[in-house]
Amino acid sequence: MPKRLLSSRWLPVLGLISLVVLLIACTPEHPQSTFEAAGPVAKSQLNLFWILFWMSLAIFIVVVGALLFTLFRFREKPGTALPFQTHGNRKLEIAWTVAPSLLLIALAVITVQTLFALDSPSQDDPLQVEVIAHQWWFEFYYPEYNVTTANEVNVPVGRDVAFKVDSRDVIHSFWVPKLRGKIDIIPNVTNNTWFSASEPGLYYGQCAEFCGIAHAFMKFRVVAQHEDEFLEWVAGQQAPARFATEGLASEGSLVFNTKGCITCHTVAGPDSAAMRDSRTASFLGGQNLVHAPNLAHFASRGSFAGSMFENTDENLAAWLRDPEGVKPGNRMARLADAFNNPDMALSESDIEALVAYLQSLQ
Ligand code: CUA
Repeated sequence: MPKRLLSSRWLPVLGLISLVVLLIACTPEHPQSTFEAAGPVAKSQLNLFWILFWMSLAIFIVVVGALLFTLFRFREKPGTALPFQTHGNRKLEIAWTVAPSLLLIALAVITVQTLFALDSPSQDDPLQVEVIAHQWWFEFYYPEYNVTTANEVNVPVGRDVAFKVDSRDVIHSFWVPKLRGKIDIIPNVTNNTWFSASEPGLYYGQCAEFCGIAHAFMKFRVVAQHEDEFLEWVAGQQAPARFATEGLASEGSLVFNTKGCITCHTVAGPDSAAMRDSRTASFLGGQNLVHAPNLAHFASRGSFAGSMFENTDENLAAWLRDPEGVKPGNRMARLADAFNNPDMALSESDIEALVAYLQSLQ
């Protein structure tokens, strides 16, 4: 390499590139990596990506290789005369028009094939799930089972799941990188997408369209389970919520019903009018008051608050103590402020009782 290229000007750049490569290599887990496809749809999309990538790389190497070869091989040397001057070369021009055209046609064919193959579920009887996006959390409704849940969508392994996505407010996007690419969620427009998970496990989803202050905190999880576990989960969700009648949890129930939680949240079962409202109600005087997660089976979920936090007593207490502090911009804090309701202020003993109550809602 010529000495000039290694001048001190380039050293910081080289250092930075090496650091980035090093840091990427050190990441132990990739919860939202599209390169770890975990279902047939994601695998098909990844496959298409790799075909495009390797073809592009080959073209890059040929074109840049030819350019570099020409630059170095025919560079001006002392004493050389002016080279032969020419204009146009029909054969070459036809070749470099036809070759890229053929490549582009090949790419178009495999892209369109993949698009059509992934357009609708491959199985005849996919599980139907309605996704309702809210600022800033996801609601899931299973019409087949009349089950409503939030932040986590349970699916059986190996079965296609057809998602109908809709929004109650602004444009969001539904994305589970390991299972499928993005689909926009647009108010008053129903979009459809589907995927299936090959292996049981937790897959992390993310809103992928800027939708307001807490956009980055609008996550969800796909819980892929074996069929029997999934049906067990469904049965649990269909059962009426268990209400504590004694102890700290019953004190928490009183707090829940008197301190304003009940204004937006419900602990009613899926058949209640309140639940149906939360799936269909639109803006109410500019504020969608009923749009808050159904907490009937809160304790059966592994996460809460737009899937931001693991569902532990400590995290829940921190959230109730200072929702704005732990998830900036969320509606819970803003509504409490909007009502300017001093009754909504929770004491430490209220919080302790509420945590006990919510964690009793299996
Ligand atoms: Cu919802 Cu970004």
